[in-house]
Amino acid sequence: MITAARCRGEFGNDRELKLDPEPSSVRKARDFVAKQLTELGFPRCVEDGILIASELVTNAQKAAPETPCLLAVRVDAGYHPVIEVHDTSPALPELRDADFLSEEGRGLHIVDALCEAWE
Ligand SMILES: Nc1ncnc2c1ncn2[C@@H]1O[C@H](COP(=O)(O)OP(=O)(O)OP(=O)(O)O)[C@@H](O)[C@H]1O
Ligand SMILES: [Mg+2]
Repeated sequence: MITAARCRGEFGNDRELKLDPEPSSVRKARDFVAKQLTELGFPRCVEDGILIASELVTNAQKAAPETPCLLAVRVDAGYHPVIEVHDTSPALPELRDADFLSEEGRGLHIVDALCEAWE
């Protein structure tokens, strides 16, 4: 399973990508996550990982439309792959009740379903 984390702070590896706030960045995020998860030895997580990255990068662009976001892929101490998206918004992601007709509020439910944990 994949843990997706949205957090702040420094991190010390080179599996990270700066993404400009433009639509083409979502495609770049998907390609980057697929490559990193494969290289790190998690090819079976690629399908979920690209969906998670798409949702988190789209959210970052909505929340901080003027600044780039940072996407990182790493492996945690328990040997789980972690996908992180850092943005400059002071607001926090919140899982919304998406009713049947709602056109929004579904992204984090997808992330929640695909991840072991997220924050
Ligand atoms: N990176 C973020 N920074 C700040 N707020 C966020 C961030 N990501 C999500 N949120 C908040 O959490 C809410 C729920 O996010 P979610 O992705 O589930 O829905 P959405 O982006 O509004 O719609 P959808 O993903 O279905 O198009 C958002 O509406 C927003 O208020
Ligand atoms: Mg969303």
